[in-house]
Amino acid sequence: MSTDPADTPAPTATVRPAHSADVPVLAAVAAATFELACPPSMTRERVDAFVDEVLSPGRFADYVADAGRHVLLAEREGAAVGYAMLVAGDPLDSDVRASIRLRPTVELSKIYVLPEAHGTGAAALLMARALDWASDVGAAGVWLGVNQQNERAQRFYRKSGFERVGTKRFLVGGVHEDDYVMERALPPLP
Ligand SMILES: CC(C)(COP(=O)(O)OP(=O)(O)OC[C@H]1O[C@@H](n2cnc3c(N)ncnc32)[C@H](O)[C@@H]1OP(=O)(O)O)[C@@H](O)C(=O)NCCC(=O)NCCS
Repeated sequence: MSTDPADTPAPTATVRPAHSADVPVLAAVAAATFELACPPSMTRERVDAFVDEVLSPGRFADYVADAGRHVLLAEREGAAVGYAMLVAGDPLDSDVRASIRLRPTVELSKIYVLPEAHGTGAAALLMARALDWASDVGAAGVWLGVNQQNERAQRFYRKSGFERVGTKRFLVGGVHEDDYVMERALPPLP
């Protein structure tokens, strides 16, 4: 039997709904991963401002408690490696409203995985559970925004069945970034 660590398969991630006790770890993973989705032009000040405003423990406490949202936590060997957040309901952004074709809709608002778990299937499992929730709440489609320079995420979304349907702007630290809007249909419930 081989004892080469390179021959040992990476442990598989598990995904579960997040609870209030997970808020500190969600905020820590969010703070560690937000910058990975940003273009190289993004300044440290803008990243920090966004983390403070949108990804603080206080904000995550609100997200987890909000019945219109669903927060998922991915773990590997008991340690958090990523998270996702969905938001039910029609979007407020006029560009998104004009772009999406499927209603009722759910936004895949966030899906972030620590670098050591990229390419391990953790993101695919988060995506599968996210789509399950969207189906369960009766959505016909799921939409998301992704930075136009974030090619890795766009590739992941295309593999996950999303296609580009429009553009929108996304405010980070007081400055707008250009996003693509992507959408995919959900199979109807049996
Ligand atoms: C987006 C994310 C969740 C996807 O998870 P992942 O484990 O990296 O996804 P996968 O490895 O299954 O798929 C990524 C694909 O992009 C490819 N890829 C990697 N680097 C790339 C790059 N620089 N440009 C284009 N494609 C790239 C990978 O090869 C893979 O494609 P393949 O399976 O055909 O080989 C993860 O990369 C992540 O957390 N990124 C940082 C945060 C982020 O950007 N979140 C999304 C915000 S909208």
